Amino acid sequence: MANPDERLGWAQEHIINAVYPIGQKAAVLFEKGDGVMLEDTQGKKYIDASSQLTCVNLGYGRRELIDAAAAEMSKLQFIKLFHGHCSPSVIECARLLAGLTPGGLDRFVFTAGGSESIEMAVQYARLYWHKKGRPKHKIISLFDSYHGITLGAVTASGYGKGSAWRGIGPLPSGFLHIPAFNCYYCMFGRQYLECGIKCAQFLEETILKEGPDSIAAFLAEPVQGVGGMIVPPIEYWPTVSEICKRHGVLLIADEVMTGFCRTGKMFAVENWQVKPDLMTLAKGLTSAYLPMGAVAFGGDIFDTLRGESLAGFTYGGHPVAAAVAIKTMQIYVRENIAQNAATAGDHALKRLNRELRDLPCVDNISGLGLMIGFNLVKDKASRAPLEAAAAAGLVARALDKGLLIRCSSPNTTTGSRVCFTPPLVISRDEIDKAIDILVPLVAELKPG
Ligand SMILES: Cc1ncc(COP(=O)(O)O)c(C=O)c1O
Repeated sequence: MANPDERLGWAQEHIINAVYPIGQKAAVLFEKGDGVMLEDTQGKKYIDASSQLTCVNLGYGRRELIDAAAAEMSKLQFIKLFHGHCSPSVIECARLLAGLTPGGLDRFVFTAGGSESIEMAVQYARLYWHKKGRPKHKIISLFDSYHGITLGAVTASGYGKGSAWRGIGPLPSGFLHIPAFNCYYCMFGRQYLECGIKCAQFLEETILKEGPDSIAAFLAEPVQGVGGMIVPPIEYWPTVSEICKRHGVLLIADEVMTGFCRTGKMFAVENWQVKPDLMTLAKGLTSAYLPMGAVAFGGDIFDTLRGESLAGFTYGGHPVAAAVAIKTMQIYVRENIAQNAATAGDHALKRLNRELRDLPCVDNISGLGLMIGFNLVKDKASRAPLEAAAAAGLVARALDKGLLIRCSSPNTTTGSRVCFTPPLVISRDEIDKAIDILVPLVAELKPG
């Protein structure tokens, strides 16, 4: 089956492709990558302005990461992090991670991805209170959030107006949602700044209504990612952090997408000098070269759980993934990748603003670091999102022109939002090439 069309035809009937109609033929067969570029089996090249699922932070073809994986793979292919067994690469990975995480979050449990990290964080938070002799189990999270698709993570997620939950219930209990920090589509109908940051204050109201003795944790993405690269007002995180402290609620920052330089800081919470109690990690930990995740937490949680013998994931702490994570983190520091994300993001945001803001169907061009988005609207006064088909058409036309971008679902409060999240190593020139392709395609969109 050499022909790409034949291969995709076979895959169509045999392989599930996520967020794509089951049984529909996939559009592209990618074969290799280099820097920010991907190439398909026909030799066509694409600029990846999505870094896939906002995860290939260091771009493609990084020889050091490949060599690190090959070296560890040829030494120790696998060892479980169970029953008192460990590997040098996992210890070195944890040591490096402890040097990067903020606020004394230097204890870790390793997983194989973001959803698993969320499951662990929720279970550890509940277990912590149980061991403290104050059992409480409720988890408060945000509408339009995304935390993964395992049952706990999907229940904590608040995107898609419940579409993620349809048909897979019953769901685990004890999860509540409150409005997110989306000023453009404020669920309270308020205006920033006179709103008094109602979305943050509403966390306190919810804790008080539900009873502080029942709330184990508040879980949120520092910047909402899948929901459309939505940046909170600067007051949001310090305020919710303070509220959590005041009511004895653990703060879980889901840094699966925002972590590892994406927002211009090593971790996004550093943008507001906030110290969460737990931090979920994945994606950028290995620059997505291998599946790996982690939950970081502090000594208090560790000591409270000391002596317990907890279950783990088979692939949590895979030695080969850990070897890649070590090299990835070294590169983040050595090449000051956070600074590049900030500078490149600033350049991209300025250009998008300059060239798109006067278009009738583009509004709310915003972002932090290389998490950037803009809304497609029918008109700027009503802010009604442009139809799903328009956003899908834009993604398809961009693909045709050799540019990968992603749109958030129009089925969320965040609306039809075009997301620009390239690898963090992208140069100014490469950003210009990507935007040169994108702008004329957006200009063709018809409002209404
Ligand atoms: C913030 C956040 N949390 C959790 C997840 C789930 O991660 P995974 O797909 O690795 O399970 C994602 C994935 O996009 C995410 O963006």
